[in-house]
Amino acid sequence: MKPRQVVTNKFVTVWRGYFRKRVDMVKILNVVGARPNFMKMAPIIAEMKRRGGEISQTLVHTGQHYDDAMSGAFFRDLGMPEPDVHLDTRDGTHAEQTARVMMAFEGALAAERPDWVVVVGDVNSTLACALVANKLRIRVAHVEAGLRSFDRTMPEEINRVLTDQLSDLLLTPSPDADENLLREGIPQERIVRVGNVMIDTLYRQIERAQRSSILDDLRLIPQGFAVLTLHRPSNVDNPDTLRLIFAALGEISRELAIVFPAHPRTQSRMREFGVEPPPGVRVMDPLGYLDFLKLWSNSKMTLTDSGGLQEETTALGVPCLTLRENTERPITVEQGTNQVVGVDHERIVSAAEAIIANERSKFARVPELWDGRTSERIVAALLSRADQQECQGERAATIEM
Ligand code: UD1
Repeated sequence: MKPRQVVTNKFVTVWRGYFRKRVDMVKILNVVGARPNFMKMAPIIAEMKRRGGEISQTLVHTGQHYDDAMSGAFFRDLGMPEPDVHLDTRDGTHAEQTARVMMAFEGALAAERPDWVVVVGDVNSTLACALVANKLRIRVAHVEAGLRSFDRTMPEEINRVLTDQLSDLLLTPSPDADENLLREGIPQERIVRVGNVMIDTLYRQIERAQRSSILDDLRLIPQGFAVLTLHRPSNVDNPDTLRLIFAALGEISRELAIVFPAHPRTQSRMREFGVEPPPGVRVMDPLGYLDFLKLWSNSKMTLTDSGGLQEETTALGVPCLTLRENTERPITVEQGTNQVVGVDHERIVSAAEAIIANERSKFARVPELWDGRTSERIVAALLSRADQQECQGERAATIEM
């Protein structure tokens, strides 16, 4: 048996080593809040875990989305760890929601004092947490930075512009995003083009998704239906616009069945306005990630006002009609399968009919760096800048002095 002192010394050495390692580790706090955040954060968490010796990570869920269908199902499908901190902020007006997240997040952040706060996308939680971190002089990295619809009536556009102004590291998906940031006066050295992180999740999950039984459950055959999603306030908060869109969909659905997993907001607006979708449109509750992926990837086309789906359909070459007047993701139109058709009856129906008749021969390709390795580049960028101690607020203050 070893003398007690030797064992103790060995323990102290091991413990010191562990402690030193912990001290050297880069401390990162990842934020999620709403449905489109989960598929962006999942591969980042996985990559941080893979580089676990260098990073200690914490996951905060703001609770902006709270239903199992909008949140819990995604954590399970994507194999995400339970959040370390759940702020449980829930509904409210935009101001209430943003303010509640800010107040709750400030406490969590002050307790953690990470080297980086990582926010993704453009939801209210993204802006709220970026603002709190910036005020606490904690560096912010924004994943999916630089996208612009140039439509300031969209709440997401405001969130995008402000989050980018508050961020120290801007991780962009495409060259147009870099250009937008430079035009807004963001210095080049803060911008890193990493590609589209949602596509990492798509490529990782596509095989598992094919095992979903959703097509059989809904008695659908591949290519024999279209998928619809609709939740933008500009489309669903106005009964006239909603009726206009449904009229066009009614015409399309005479030739091709339309499956419509409806966001809770849309379901409640339809009830409130007494607006029913046409008979050929099958409404159902929102689906989890894997069922939904199986569904749209086997569809003839998707019709949507979502941002993410424009990108995902481009990555898999599925035709996409965007029911909006603009897109913050122009690369999906220039290079991918997306067509922006607005809410005009004629434009929607004629574009859909061309796809149904297989006349759509739009040349489409997957944009550069949408290669399934974006999360690796994101984590590498965070680690390579981990030694820069100051956040942009401090730099600005120093310059002013
Ligand atoms: C939010 C994002 C939007 C994103 C969308 C995806 C903002 C400004 N908008 O919009 O960019 O595309 O998420 O879903 O952040 N609700 C539930 N259960 C939930 C979540 C919401 O019932 O789990 C209902 C509530 O009635 C709520 C309404 O949906 O008031 C709207 O939710 P909210 O988070 O405010 O915005 P979304 O429309 O979901």
